[in-house]
Amino acid sequence: VDLLAALRAAPGEFVSGRRLAEEAGLSRAAIWKGIEELRARGYVIEALPHRGYRLISAPDRPYPEEIWDGLTTVRFGRRAIYLPSVGSTNDEAKRLAAAGWPEGTLVVAEEQTAGKGRLGRGWLSPPGGLWFSLILRPELSLAELGPLTILAAVALRRAILAETGFGPLVKWPNDLVANGKKLAGILAEAGGELGRVEAVILGIGLNVNQDEGDFPPPLRPHATSLRLLLGRPVARVPLLRTFLAHFEELYLGEREGRRDYLVEAAAHSATLGRRVRVVTGGAAVEGTALRLDPDGALVLRTGEGTVRILTGEVEEVRAEE
Ligand code: BTN
Repeated sequence: VDLLAALRAAPGEFVSGRRLAEEAGLSRAAIWKGIEELRARGYVIEALPHRGYRLISAPDRPYPEEIWDGLTTVRFGRRAIYLPSVGSTNDEAKRLAAAGWPEGTLVVAEEQTAGKGRLGRGWLSPPGGLWFSLILRPELSLAELGPLTILAAVALRRAILAETGFGPLVKWPNDLVANGKKLAGILAEAGGELGRVEAVILGIGLNVNQDEGDFPPPLRPHATSLRLLLGRPVARVPLLRTFLAHFEELYLGEREGRRDYLVEAAAHSATLGRRVRVVTGGAAVEGTALRLDPDGALVLRTGEGTVRILTGEVEEVRAEE
């Protein structure tokens, strides 16, 4: 119902029930019911006899209506689904992709009960974080997907910086870290035939408002949230909206061959210039991280020369002497 839009159109003012009924083409009883539904979803609405209704505040929940309010993208997030609780937004987005939903479709959940991390790991997703997935339909082969997750990490870093003033580092290939702890993770899953990707599901998990106690003790030395870093809660909706704008800009630019986000990833890297051990396909390679190649590969200088690594886990990072 566009009851919400009608209330928003008159910021700070009362809108009469009669006017709302006229604008939304609904009965007065239906308006009342609609107001109650909005309240149940966290909107604070004042109601006064003879004056009508006034929107006091909107909840910081990533509802589509909230994301769309001020969204500047043309494609990303224009189709959006919010789920209070779901197993994994990646799985949900995969189903929608198979059913033909277009590129840019966003699936966001308040909580995931079976969140997935890279390499078959789980991803803890209690309420208060940002857990979402995007459907992409890039004209790329599987081998060309590497830079896409780096692009997403850079877009997420930009959004966090714009909304909070704090810029986390990009840990290769696509984590965001701060103080050596993980702040965000990205899981890209591709479906389709070899050589031609039908759809890519880009899943992003950002720890936003979790407290220390929201992380189980074994995770505490390794995980952090924006709230823990900044000492205050952070609004999720503007973060998500700003991410979508940056992601779209970089993604459409990439199609025109622009790869400047790789420069940005390198400039704010937690990996480059350090001595690292990268586990890739069961084997471990140790060396100094030199640079990122245009395909997103990490280039290491090892005892036996230069080695390019397409994907892997940076297991251990210590400062170079
Ligand atoms: C990692 O660093 O291991 C990747 C974590 C990715 C988590 C996100 S949360 C939204 C989306 N749905 C999932 O099940 N996983 C990704």
